[in-house]
Amino acid sequence: MTSDAATARRVVLRHHPEGALQPSDFTIETGTIPTPAEGQFLVRNRFVSVDPMLRLFVDRDPLGGGMPSMPVGTTIPGAAVGEIVASHHPDHAVGDLVEGRFGWQEYAVSNGAGVNRVDPRLGGPENALGIGGLPGFTAYVGLHAAGGIKPGETVLVSGAAGAVGSAVGGFVRARGGRAVGIAGGADKRRYLIEEAGYDAVADRHAPDFLDQLAKALPDGANVYFDNVGGPMLADVVPLMARGGLVLICGLMAQYQGDEGDGTDHLPAVLRAVMGKGVRIQSFTQFGQDALRPAFQDELAGLVASGGIASRVHIEDGLDRLPHALAGLFAHSVPGKVVVRVAPDTAAPADSTRTLQESE
Ligand SMILES: NC(=O)c1ccc[n+]([C@@H]2O[C@H](COP(=O)([O-])OP(=O)(O)OC[C@H]3O[C@@H](n4cnc5c(N)ncnc54)[C@H](OP(=O)(O)O)[C@@H]3O)[C@@H](O)[C@H]2O)c1
Repeated sequence: MTSDAATARRVVLRHHPEGALQPSDFTIETGTIPTPAEGQFLVRNRFVSVDPMLRLFVDRDPLGGGMPSMPVGTTIPGAAVGEIVASHHPDHAVGDLVEGRFGWQEYAVSNGAGVNRVDPRLGGPENALGIGGLPGFTAYVGLHAAGGIKPGETVLVSGAAGAVGSAVGGFVRARGGRAVGIAGGADKRRYLIEEAGYDAVADRHAPDFLDQLAKALPDGANVYFDNVGGPMLADVVPLMARGGLVLICGLMAQYQGDEGDGTDHLPAVLRAVMGKGVRIQSFTQFGQDALRPAFQDELAGLVASGGIASRVHIEDGLDRLPHALAGLFAHSVPGKVVVRVAPDTAAPADSTRTLQESE
């Protein structure tokens, strides 16, 4: 369902989730369409991104106090792709398709900071939230942080069938490396091998998961690109190659407060780290904008040659956003998840109104 031309809907935090996130932790508010001031433009969102990191942002006590808590009533932040429907900005015209931090809402005003033009070389505009957006860029930045991948090196990737992991496979193969994924289920294994550039995949739900993993890593992993954290690290570190690098991208398995089964895996991890001189490093794509042009050029070539996966799962309707976010943790699908909140052609907006909450 979309709102009529005069109103704008947005998804806000209703209360901080306790444990597993529920759609009822969010609510939808309706207001009027905001007006862009001089130097700003108005975007009508078409696709809104669903990112697991949001679970951390809406927590009552994110990272145990390491991040500020988001106040109840805040519009959920995040990337979106939309069409400019009114502009008082010299560099952005009505009709342009742009990607930016426009949030879980139908309309957003922007001054252009952090906004990227949608690259038509990547296919449909939804790809600007997947392979061409934060997940693809994160994969690229992570491999850059690892110092680049040399031909013949093996990169092991957890959460491989997710949006970031899907992109890692293509970039590793393009560098002559070998990509080994960890994913849940036969469908994801097929997707990773047939579409996403992976050479081998271990099924984390299979009873012989550790045997599969060991078999896929005859010479160990030179890099472990970790998207999930949690107890899996203890399984993986002993399978690292000498001098290997553990690259922490995200902690998907820990965002809901579920930090394992209570067993302390740290001693096994540290024994392997010590024994093999393994390095552990974290990275973030934030602040790495200087890498964007090289990322976009390499990606366009890989997309044109079919050398990288760009699968996007689309759900329909602003109301689906909370369900789609909860689904990332409960029953994830291969590739990037986005929600379509407006049809292909955005109707011109009445830019004379201001946004007011109806509640
Ligand atoms: N460092 C940065 O700058 C940066 C930027 C963007 C994202 N990230 C992080 O990167 C990670 C991946 O993001 P994404 O967008 O690719 O997420 P995504 O599309 O939701 O995929 C995550 C994958 O993790 C796996 N998974 C979920 N729960 C798990 C668990 N408890 N144990 C093991 N695997 C689990 C799922 O695959 P299976 O069920 O198939 O295993 C899923 O496909 C997240 O941690 C995110 O926060 C970091």
